[in-house]
Amino acid sequence: MKKFLSILLVLAMTLSLAACGGNDTSDAGASAGNEDKKVITVSTKFVDDEQTAISLKKVVEAINERSEGSLELQLFTGGVLPIGKDGMEQIVQGSDWILVEGINFLGDYVPDYNAVTGPFLYQTFDEFFAMMQTPLVQNLNQQIEDEYGVKVLSLDWVFGFRSMMTNKPITTPEDMRGLNIRVPTSQLYTYTIEAMGGNPVSMPYYDTYAAIQQGVIDGVEGSIMTYYGTQQYENVKEYSLTNHLLGVSAVSISTKLWDELTEEQQTIIVEEFEKGRDDNLAETIKLEEEYAELLKAEGVTFHEVDAPAFLEAAEPVFGRFERWTPGIYDEIVEELNKIRQQ
Ligand code: G3P
Repeated sequence: MKKFLSILLVLAMTLSLAACGGNDTSDAGASAGNEDKKVITVSTKFVDDEQTAISLKKVVEAINERSEGSLELQLFTGGVLPIGKDGMEQIVQGSDWILVEGINFLGDYVPDYNAVTGPFLYQTFDEFFAMMQTPLVQNLNQQIEDEYGVKVLSLDWVFGFRSMMTNKPITTPEDMRGLNIRVPTSQLYTYTIEAMGGNPVSMPYYDTYAAIQQGVIDGVEGSIMTYYGTQQYENVKEYSLTNHLLGVSAVSISTKLWDELTEEQQTIIVEEFEKGRDDNLAETIKLEEEYAELLKAEGVTFHEVDAPAFLEAAEPVFGRFERWTPGIYDEIVEELNKIRQQ
C-alpha cells in the first residue's frame, strides 16, 4: 500500500512542479545549466521496488554520466506520467520520451506484434528472444518505424511468465468462470482471459490494489516479479501457474527525437539499454526463485494447472484478430519449430 501512496505523492509533486514552472518536463532540465542538453522523459509502469525499474534507474544514470551532460534522462516510475496507450501517443507524436511498456501497445499500431506475443506460444525466455530476432519480427520493427515514427530499441525486457493471482485456486478453465480478472488495456489480454474462462476487466495496474479490496475485481494476472514487487500478496494468496503470456516490455523512442540526437548519443543510448536488458534478465532469473520462496513465507500457495485444457481453451484467440496478416499464425509456428530444432 505504501508504494501506491508514494506514487500519489510523486504525482502530486509532478503536478505542482508543472504548475509552478511550465508543463513540459524538458523545461526543468534545460534551465539547469547546459543549453544544448537534451532532456528525455523515460516513462514506465513499474514501481521502484520492481527489478525492471531498478535496472532502468541504472540505465538512466549510466547514460546521463556517459553523455557528459549532453543528455538528461529523467525516469518516472509507477505510471505517474502516461503509460500504456497514452504513453505510446507521446512516442507517435514525437515527444522527447522513451516508453518502457508492454509489446501489446505496439500492437495497437502494427497488429502483428500481438500475434508474436500470443498466449501459450513460448515455453522459455530463450525461445521468445530467438523469435524477436527473426526477420518476421524485425520487419514489424521496420514497419512501425516507417509508418508511425516509432523506433523500437528493445523488445526483450522480460519480467516472467504471467499466471493468476486470486483468492481461490484455479486448476481448469471452469475454475475461472465468474472471476473478474484485471488485464492491461489490450485486446490480446482481454481475448486471452475470456478464452481461458474469466471476465477480463481493463485498468492500469496501479489501480488493482484498491480494486481487489473494494471487490471490483477478484484478482489479477501477472508474473512472480509483479506479485512480489507490488506487494499484491497482501491482497490475494493463491497463485495458479497458467503461464499464459510472457511479461515483457518494449523500449520505444520516436524517430523524430532519435534523428535529433548525435551518433554518439544514439550509441550511448543503445549500448546502455542493452546492458540494462541483460541486467534485468539476469536479476529476474535469480529473483524469480527467491521471490517464490518469499511469497510462500507470506502465506501464498502455488498451484499447478491443467495446462492442456488451458492451451485448448486459448486456441480461438489466434482467430479473433481481423487485422492480423493472413497466415501469420502459421508463419510463427514455423519459426518456432525452427527455433526449437536449433
Ligand atoms: O507494476 C506493474 C507491472 O509489474 C505489471 O504491469 O500492466 O503489465 O500488468 P502490467
